[in-house]
Amino acid sequence: MAFKLAYALCFLLLFLHLPFPTTAQTNKNIRLGSSLTALDNSSFWASPSGEFAFGFQEIGRNSFLLAIWFNKIPEKTIVWSANGNNLVAKGSKVELTADGQFRLNDAVTGEQRWAADSAGTGVSYAAMLDTGNFVLANRSSINLWESFDHPTDTILPLQTLNQTSTLFARYTATNYSKRRFRFALKLDGDLSLYTTHFPLDSVNTIYWSTDTAGCGYQVIFNQSGSIYLTARNRSILNMISNSTVSTRDFYQRATLDYDGVFRHYVYPKSTGSSAAGWLKAWTSMSFIPPNICKTILQETGGGACGYNSICKHDQGTICQCPPGYSFIDPDDVLKGCKKNFISQSCDAASPETDHFYFQEMQHTDWPMSEYENFAFVTEDWCRQACLADCFCAVANFKNGQCWLKGSPLLNGRVDPINGVTGLVKIRKENSTMGPGGGYLKKKDNSTLVVVGSVLLSSSGFLNFLLLLTTYLVVSRIYYRKAKVNQPYLVMNLKYFTYEELEEATNGFKEELGRGGFATVFKGVLGPDKAKCVAVKRLDSMVKESEWEFKAEMSAISKTNHRNLVQLLGYCNEREHRMLVYEFMSNGSLAGFLFGKSP
Ligand SMILES: *[C@@H]1O[C@H](CO)[C@@H](O)[C@H](O)[C@H]1NC(C)=O
Ligand SMILES: *[C@@H]1O[C@H](CO)[C@@H](O)[C@H](O)[C@H]1NC(C)=O
Ligand SMILES: *[C@@H]1O[C@H](CO)[C@@H](O)[C@H](O)[C@H]1NC(C)=O
Ligand SMILES: *[C@@H]1O[C@H](CO)[C@@H](O)[C@H](O)[C@H]1NC(C)=O
Ligand SMILES: *[C@@H]1O[C@H](CO)[C@@H](O)[C@H](O)[C@H]1NC(C)=O
Ligand SMILES: *[C@@H]1O[C@H](CO)[C@@H](O)[C@H](O)[C@H]1NC(C)=O
Ligand SMILES: *[C@@H]1O[C@H](CO)[C@@H](O)[C@H](O)[C@H]1NC(C)=O
Ligand SMILES: *[C@@H]1O[C@H](CO)[C@@H](O)[C@H](O)[C@H]1NC(C)=O
Repeated sequence: MAFKLAYALCFLLLFLHLPFPTTAQTNKNIRLGSSLTALDNSSFWASPSGEFAFGFQEIGRNSFLLAIWFNKIPEKTIVWSANGNNLVAKGSKVELTADGQFRLNDAVTGEQRWAADSAGTGVSYAAMLDTGNFVLANRSSINLWESFDHPTDTILPLQTLNQTSTLFARYTATNYSKRRFRFALKLDGDLSLYTTHFPLDSVNTIYWSTDTAGCGYQVIFNQSGSIYLTARNRSILNMISNSTVSTRDFYQRATLDYDGVFRHYVYPKSTGSSAAGWLKAWTSMSFIPPNICKTILQETGGGACGYNSICKHDQGTICQCPPGYSFIDPDDVLKGCKKNFISQSCDAASPETDHFYFQEMQHTDWPMSEYENFAFVTEDWCRQACLADCFCAVANFKNGQCWLKGSPLLNGRVDPINGVTGLVKIRKENSTMGPGGGYLKKKDNSTLVVVGSVLLSSSGFLNFLLLLTTYLVVSRIYYRKAKVNQPYLVMNLKYFTYEELEEATNGFKEELGRGGFATVFKGVLGPDKAKCVAVKRLDSMVKESEWEFKAEMSAISKTNHRNLVQLLGYCNEREHRMLVYEFMSNGSLAGFLFGKSP
């Protein structure tokens, strides 16, 4: 009895000492029959601490998203949403019905736009919890539906992803409908980032994966802010982010951003003692993949930044357009870029070869867009080949290799390590009549290079700084002058004199075969004449025309499938043009050596 009295007294004291909002916690439960109406951004139910809110956010004019957001920061960052594909009009209602159904109806059409799949399970109340989880529970406080079990693009501390859980990147920063990026723990236990065949949901390209099929079980975002993949026995298989800041002093979330990068963000709480001096903005602590521009390589689909674009990884993902191109939609840079000029005519009578020029972009590559590949050529030859080819939109050149690429360009990215030069073919001003009879105007340089970015933080100032820096960097590349022509032919190949090859072939004695424009001889090289080679001597060269010779060279190099035959060197002396290959007695190579198409 005394115990009971003491207990009651204690409880009373506690009650009196607690600040009022906390005592209201139990009263925060949302009773059957409650509803919220979408009128403005203040239609919400807050969690007991006020840190999270569930309700309506006005996304466009008269369009409302039912969502959960961080409610104590000015950004009101959304962490979950119900109807991203299906916004509702002003006056729409979300309602917890008397029979425990939870549903959203549009005010204008009266249609149901969303519902929690909890009908008939005995829901007796709803609650917005301080963890950011919105729950529907029964009388014994068992959660029958949780927003944590239906994540959209974000997970929060204490949230887990199970096998078959998927995060969907939103369309743009402000459009919550799904796009082509996914983060999913598959049924087999593999955790991956992938693109879909948008607008379908099927998997297109996996661009990051833990390779844990057979053992991956759960993705855990634990209370200290670490995110990791565990096996069924709880051992950690993959550490995705090991937090260095405390959840007590920082808000945390991990989001599959609309640029396809999964980032772990923190935001200093105003009360956080260790958070003093931090910028009041979301800061990314870690992210995967390390460089999305390089990891997405797709034969189909827009890659990281969309067709014809260039992706650059620098703090965030920066999408830009090549010179002569501009964004199809500046508000949605992932849609890619369009040409600002009329494409080259393919009419043989008016080839327009001299109506185009190149803008050089260093370290810029469009892998997998090529329809032609030439080896052992100069950059100048590469430029000429692209100019003369109406299908060519861009040429990539590196170490005597030339790739011609057509529209739409795929997987464009800045890659300083690879060292490929991008040559963007652009129509000269006034060189053609536009469709309406007027001249198609080339735009001002400053509008040609527009930069879109998804950034570390949502701070507008940082955004601005990055935009400015990128603009300056890109402008510098843009204004670089065309390089002087490189010496003819190639690096990493041995140069042979005519005499050397004459000796190696014993005076061009043993003929292996003859093709339309070349004869192939057997030879031996090396100190002890141990290395067998095939020397391909080009016949009937048109000496006067360097251009024709180069064309001939390219025709040959086209048949040089690198995996089949190793080119060792060449001779380019006076009228003598020869290529030296490793000799393989394998007869299947004969067709290649004698100039038949491969
Ligand atoms: C409502 O919230 C949205 C999204 O957070 C924001 O873009 C909009 O400006 C807000 N509207 C008002 C009136 O505050
Ligand atoms: C609440 O749900 C749990 C799990 O479904 C169930 O075991 C329990 O009996 C339910 N309680 C009530 C009061 O319905
Ligand atoms: C994953 O399973 C756990 C139980 O192990 C459950 O509490 C949690 O809600 C589930 N999450 C999802 C997203 O299904
Ligand atoms: C979001 O993008 C989709 C796809 O382009 C579009 O259909 C939808 O209207 C957009 N939603 C909003 C609110 O702009
Ligand atoms: C837990 O499971 C993983 C993967 O299935 C396995 O490699 C590891 O040895 C297991 N650890 C323990 C302690 O059982
Ligand atoms: C969260 O995970 C990290 C990394 O495994 C661990 O060091 C930390 O103790 C965990 N925190 C909690 C509360 O479990
Ligand atoms: C994560 O960080 C914690 C504390 O910094 C450390 O104890 C733990 O070993 C780390 N875990 C991994 C897997 O790196
Ligand atoms: C384009 O036309 C204008 C007016 O006809 C002329 O002044 C200008 O030099 C032309 N530009 C080029 C690049 O031909």
